[in-house]
Amino acid sequence: MAEGVGSAPIAKTDITKEACEWSAPGDALAVIAVPVYGGKVAPLALKRMERIKGENTPAVLIVVYGNRAYGEALNELDAWAVAHGFKPIAAGTFIGEHSYSTSEFPIAQGRPNQQDLTYARTFGEKIRQKMESGEELTAVEVKRIARPKQSLLSLLRFIMAVLKWQRRKEPMQKCPKVDPERCVHCGVCAAVCPVEIIASDGINVTEEGCIKCCACVKRCPHQARSFDTPFRQMLWKNFKTAKMPQTILSK
Ligand SMILES: Cc1cc2nc3c(=O)[nH]c(=O)nc-3n(C[C@H](O)[C@H](O)[C@H](O)COP(=O)(O)O)c2cc1C
Repeated sequence: MAEGVGSAPIAKTDITKEACEWSAPGDALAVIAVPVYGGKVAPLALKRMERIKGENTPAVLIVVYGNRAYGEALNELDAWAVAHGFKPIAAGTFIGEHSYSTSEFPIAQGRPNQQDLTYARTFGEKIRQKMESGEELTAVEVKRIARPKQSLLSLLRFIMAVLKWQRRKEPMQKCPKVDPERCVHCGVCAAVCPVEIIASDGINVTEEGCIKCCACVKRCPHQARSFDTPFRQMLWKNFKTAKMPQTILSK
């Protein structure tokens, strides 16, 4: 999307591993993208963004979700942006492969795909055209963004499955498991873990801090890590229809 906007230079700040302190100048365009957890902005992302500020800086707000729903996340990001000195002029809801997706139970596997990326770039180009038009960039009402189509039946089936599971009161796995037979102690898992709870040997883990992002599971070159969650099959079964990105731009 930023490439589509095309104005150089692009300064990129990644909060996956650590918090960021940044004052975005008023003549910049900030693109703020966050993952959705439980229909909200992932709490760790919000924490890591605490010291990001704008000076009435125009901003594009993006939430990335795993093809289920983004719930209140975009509204929440909008409130955050305004409180932090940004002026949201555009917003988008994009789909990324679900953290719980596996090859057996794929959920939005391979997203964002080429079509999503082309859509994002084109959206960036539209923003550039708008900025170059010389028209005033008014704040956008993110609530007006179109919600993706969702079959009511699948949604109800999912809710029923969750309620049924809750009634069973089965304990949830706190953190991905490691198979010591497969682990070669390469340290990839430790390097990608956003909360740094995996020791460099790949074996010792402080379970409590795990945010279940499954980066260690997906990136392990030896398939030594796995995360069992009842949600995987529920999501796979009920959210098979690919949702499409949606965007909104200031008038
Ligand atoms: C704990 C947790 C909660 C999630 N909640 C949602 C959700 O409510 N709706 C949804 O569609 N995807 C949900 N996802 C999927 C993520 O939004 C999606 O995988 C996103 O691409 C993650 O970004 P990342 O790859 O940068 O971690 C959740 C993932 C995790 C780990």
